Amino acid sequence: MQDGDLVGVQRTLAPVLRAKALDNRLTDPILGDEYAELAMRRLDPAYESRRFGTSQIGLSAVARAKAHDDWARGFLADHPDAVVLHLGCGLDARVYRIDPPATVDWYDLDYPSVIELRRQILPPREHYTLIDSSVTDLTWLERIPRGRPGLMIAEGLLPYLTETEIRRLLTSVVDAFPTGQIQVDTVSVGAWRMSKWDPVGRRYNALFRSGFDDPAALADWHPRLEYVDEAPMNDAPVLMSKAPATVRRLYRLMNLIPGFTRSTRIVRFRF
Ligand SMILES: C[S@@+](CC[C@H](N)C(=O)[O-])C[C@H]1O[C@@H](n2cnc3c(N)ncnc32)[C@H](O)[C@@H]1O
Repeated sequence: MQDGDLVGVQRTLAPVLRAKALDNRLTDPILGDEYAELAMRRLDPAYESRRFGTSQIGLSAVARAKAHDDWARGFLADHPDAVVLHLGCGLDARVYRIDPPATVDWYDLDYPSVIELRRQILPPREHYTLIDSSVTDLTWLERIPRGRPGLMIAEGLLPYLTETEIRRLLTSVVDAFPTGQIQVDTVSVGAWRMSKWDPVGRRYNALFRSGFDDPAALADWHPRLEYVDEAPMNDAPVLMSKAPATVRRLYRLMNLIPGFTRSTRIVRFRF
């Protein structure tokens, strides 16, 4: 299987993976993910020769990944018996970056063709299961162990789901665990509306299907769900200190555009 077998929204995994691969080449990287470089080269051996193939503009996505990693590490330190649901995982190597103890059971979920690619590119490990399913077909939740703390991570996924699908997903995950943490990122209503002009989304036929100006309000969907906090992305200190100077200047300029800084919000909930 090659990346040519991916269709629509599945192809959105590539730009994020490329950003993580390029980050790994920085002298002082944000993530330092060797698997990202390996996976990107397997996905598209000629990626650097493509248009914008070595552009570091996507580094804000790496700052987003770092925020999710840091939150996940904190949760797993406090809950070493947790079950992790990493939804819309793409080819992200979070389980290898975090390297949880054997007491944690980790599930990576994405569409079957993405999971097939993962099987070919990334190594298996103990206490780690791949689920090949659409996240919206909630029968996959029946395969997950109950009675333990749950950690749900959805990086770059929610904007591709409708509000109704997100609501069903979040409430079902809360119902499945006695306690836990949910980490997501959402786009603003403006970014959702603008996405129909986004050249990458149009090329991949993968437009955003939801947007939220107040993602904290998602907690209102379930009586046990509580908003905790947000992490910065487009003005993240780690981006502004580690990105190459040209990229930092570009983000400083773009952050002057009204609405840009908070066009993506990285949000944490607990229950
Ligand atoms: C922007 S990529 C992010 C990939 C990965 N989380 C990362 O940050 O590198 C979005 C991912 O969500 C997956 N996705 C989108 N809709 C999905 C659905 N309904 N069910 C399962 N996966 C989905 C895509 O296949 C893709 O891998």
